Amino acid sequence: MDLKSEILKLKKEKNVLILAHNYQLPEVQDVADYVGDSLGLSRQAAKTSQKIILFCGVHFMAETAAITCPDKKVLIPDLAAGCSLAETITANQLRNWKKEHPNAVTVGYVNTSAEVKAELDYCCTSSNAVNVVRAVPENKEILFLPDMFLGSYVAKVTNRKNMFIWAGECHVHAGIRSQDVQEKLQKLNTAEFLVHPECSCTSSVMYDIASGDYGNRQVQVLSTEGMMNHAKNSQAKKFVVATETGILYRMRKQNPNKEFYPVSENAVCKYMKMITLDKVYASLKEEKYQVKVPKNIADKAQLAIERMLAIS
Ligand code: 13P
Ligand code: SF4
Repeated sequence: MDLKSEILKLKKEKNVLILAHNYQLPEVQDVADYVGDSLGLSRQAAKTSQKIILFCGVHFMAETAAITCPDKKVLIPDLAAGCSLAETITANQLRNWKKEHPNAVTVGYVNTSAEVKAELDYCCTSSNAVNVVRAVPENKEILFLPDMFLGSYVAKVTNRKNMFIWAGECHVHAGIRSQDVQEKLQKLNTAEFLVHPECSCTSSVMYDIASGDYGNRQVQVLSTEGMMNHAKNSQAKKFVVATETGILYRMRKQNPNKEFYPVSENAVCKYMKMITLDKVYASLKEEKYQVKVPKNIADKAQLAIERMLAIS
C-alpha cells in the first residue's frame, strides 16, 4: 500500500485538516495541509471550518488546538508524544509560585500542559514572547515559565528587570552548546546564523552580539517559522541553524539554491519523531487518539491562549 496516497485520499474523503510542526519527519510534513511553528499551527486550528484536525506534533500542541476548537475533533497519532520542557512545571508548582508573588502577571510558554495554561494570564510562543511581555504594564512583576533560556532572552530584549524566570529547559535545545556553535561558525565563516531562543547558547550569543564578537555576521534569534521566513528572504546562501534538525528538510525543500547546516546533528526531539506515517494513517482511518481537555480547565486556559493569538 502506498501510505502517502492513501493518507491524501482519506484526508480528502473525511475532510480532515492535517497540521504538522516544523520538526516532524519529512514524510509526515509532506502529507500536511500546513507546516509551521506553534503560533502558526494554533492559528490554523482556530480558523479552520473543518470538523476534524489531525495534529502531527506533540501533545501540548494538540491540546492547545482542542482548547481553541471545543466543537472539533482533535486527533494525535501517538498520545505518548510529550515534551520534556512542558514536564518541568506542574499546575501545583505554578500555584505555589504565584502565592509567593500574589501581584505578578503570569506568562507561560505554549509548551505547557492544559492544567498549567489554566493558571496563566498570558500564553506565548517563541515568535511572540517578546511582544507578550511588552504588553504587560512595566510596573507589574512577571512570572515567566517554563523555559529559562527563552525567558532570559526575552528579559534581555525587553530590558525587563522585574521578571522571574522558571528554571525549566528542553533537553534538545539545552544540548546545543556554545562550543558547538563556535566550532560550526569557524568552519562556515560566511554563513548566517539562525538560533532558536530555547537553545542554551542563546544567552552567550546575545552577549557576543552585544560585544561585537560576530563582526558583520548576521545572527538572528527566531522561532522556527521566523527561521523559515528569514531563510527565504535573506540574500545569504549559507545558514548555520541552531534548533531541532527536522526543520532542515523544509528549509532545503523551499530553498534549493541555499545550504543549511545544523549546529548539532544530535538535536533530535524523540517525541516529535514518534509521529510516523503508519501512525498518521491509523489515526486518520480509526479517528484516534482524540485529545480532550475537561471543560473547567479548557475554559480557563482559553483566555490565556486567546491573549496569545491576539498578539503577533
Ligand atoms: P516554535 O514555536 O518556534 O516552532 O517552537 C516550538 C517548540 O519549541 C517545539 O520544540
Ligand atoms: Fe519539547 Fe524540546 Fe521536543 Fe520542542 S524540541 S517538543 S521543547 S522536547
